[in-house]
Amino acid sequence: MRVNFNRVAAVATALAVWASAATGAVATHTYSKWMASSIMSRHQGIMTGAGSSSEALQSGFTQKAFTALVAQYPNATDVQQYIETSVAAAAPFLSNATYDAMAYPMDRLSNGNALLTLPSANSTASNRAAAKALHQSIMLNHRNIDGGLWYFTYPQWSYLDGMYSLAPFWTLYSTNAVSRSSNSTAELDDMLFQLDLIWQHTYNSSTGLLVHGYDASLTAVWANPITGASPHVWGRSLGWYAMALVDTLELLPSSPCKYKQDVLNKFQTLMPAIIDAVDQQTGGWWQILDEPGKEGNYIESSGSAMFAYALLKGVRLGYLAGGLASNASEVATRAQGYLTDTFVVKETNGTLSYNGTVSVCSLNSTASYEYYVGQPIQYNSVLGSAAYVLASLEVEKLSA
Ligand SMILES: *[C@@H]1O[C@H](CO)[C@@H](O)[C@H](O)[C@H]1NC(C)=O
Ligand SMILES: *[C@@H]1O[C@H](CO)[C@@H](O)[C@H](O)[C@H]1NC(C)=O
Ligand SMILES: *[C@@H]1O[C@H](CO)[C@@H](O)[C@H](O)[C@H]1NC(C)=O
Ligand SMILES: *[C@@H]1O[C@H](CO)[C@@H](O)[C@H](O)[C@H]1NC(C)=O
Ligand SMILES: *[C@@H]1O[C@H](CO)[C@@H](O)[C@H](O)[C@H]1NC(C)=O
Ligand SMILES: *[C@@H]1O[C@H](CO)[C@@H](O)[C@H](O)[C@H]1NC(C)=O
Ligand SMILES: *[C@@H]1O[C@H](CO)[C@@H](O)[C@H](O)[C@H]1NC(C)=O
Ligand SMILES: *[C@@H]1O[C@H](CO)[C@@H](O)[C@H](O)[C@H]1NC(C)=O
Ligand SMILES: *[C@@H]1O[C@H](CO)[C@@H](O)[C@H](O)[C@H]1NC(C)=O
Repeated sequence: MRVNFNRVAAVATALAVWASAATGAVATHTYSKWMASSIMSRHQGIMTGAGSSSEALQSGFTQKAFTALVAQYPNATDVQQYIETSVAAAAPFLSNATYDAMAYPMDRLSNGNALLTLPSANSTASNRAAAKALHQSIMLNHRNIDGGLWYFTYPQWSYLDGMYSLAPFWTLYSTNAVSRSSNSTAELDDMLFQLDLIWQHTYNSSTGLLVHGYDASLTAVWANPITGASPHVWGRSLGWYAMALVDTLELLPSSPCKYKQDVLNKFQTLMPAIIDAVDQQTGGWWQILDEPGKEGNYIESSGSAMFAYALLKGVRLGYLAGGLASNASEVATRAQGYLTDTFVVKETNGTLSYNGTVSVCSLNSTASYEYYVGQPIQYNSVLGSAAYVLASLEVEKLSA
């Protein structure tokens, strides 16, 4: 393969030149595809039932990142095949709504989009049943006293995290020709209500950012006495919410416009605050956004990739415009470059690893600053590496 070094240099943040020590051969890789093939070599994002309750999210998030990759690189047939394998593995775990609604956090719904959009050849009865059960599980999901969907088993608690899986799936299900029903308008209203309710409880007007979640009963040790809000802005949970907004916007019809307008208002309000919160020195975002530079805090690699993706996709689809769009592109492109330089590890066997991703942070804790910065860092968490695939795809699009 002939390598055009000028072009490689021009898009150095998106392309890597990797010389194999064994063969001396030089190959160019795009980081998105390289990281995706590395995720596949690690067999990540395939449910086995033996993992933690976050298995369903690992599976659904991998499917979403890979779906975006195949849309951008249609000849990546191995990645398409992997999506199908991931969906086929997940479906049996998600086909009993009564059980799933409690056994998995709201994150389970992230598997629904690929279930609905697989090529018809793969739209098996099992896939259709799983999509239907996931939808039914929203209706069975517990609600708090304000009507907000619980994130998981914790009574009355809602997390930003769950919105990433809920809103795009519910929107697709309610608008898709095959699955929409006479109740779809009420369901879209409910979807908007959920995005709204959690915003109202978690928005901090002095930072413009959203905290991790809230307890509608106001009884948790960490709950704000008026709003029930938890105390801190956790990067990854805000990353899920930012991605929820931009991915939902992409799926919402333009008419009636109230849905799109409402979600757009949220996106355009939130993203400038996220740009403001970037660490000027590195270009990444802190694990705890509201305590920049405090001892123990660090630049976290999953939340940072999620913000870079949401910003660049928002610009690409015209949801951010003018000076805000140029700022967003600059900040996000720089962030992806920092992530590549800092957290992407080239293994001697030719795979890429991804470092610096915090493990799960739960509100079933003190939710204190010390708790969040004390959670372990994971090597090759797919919640980080799949977010990096999404961010890299957007950067690669800029130079395509
Ligand atoms: C896929 O397409 C790209 C160009 O878009 C090309 O460089 C690459 O070689 C193709 N890969 C395969 C496996 O055909
Ligand atoms: C769903 O799971 C529950 C709990 O395990 C079980 O009681 C019920 O029979 C299952 N329903 C179906 C339709 O399989
Ligand atoms: C999806 O469909 C294609 C084409 O029919 C087939 O080759 C592939 O094996 C199917 N994948 C799964 C997981 O069933
Ligand atoms: C229609 O959707 C609304 C909003 O989610 C829900 O409250 C209601 O139960 C649904 N009705 C039916 C018949 O499913
Ligand atoms: C909002 O954020 C600021 C800055 O982090 C903090 O001082 C303030 O206590 C927060 N407000 C509430 C209601 O939590
Ligand atoms: C873009 O960033 C510059 C420098 O930080 C700032 O002065 C300007 O207000 C920003 N523009 C918008 C539209 O946010
Ligand atoms: C490549 O090397 C890394 C680091 O040693 C290892 O974790 C991974 O499993 C290896 N992958 C394969 C496909 O051998
Ligand atoms: C991964 O990051 C940790 C610090 O968070 C560091 O100690 C470790 O050396 C890194 N691993 C690699 C392979 O870079
Ligand atoms: C919540 O945390 C407590 C204390 O760590 C633990 O015993 C309990 O099992 C947790 N609850 C759930 C549902 O994970």
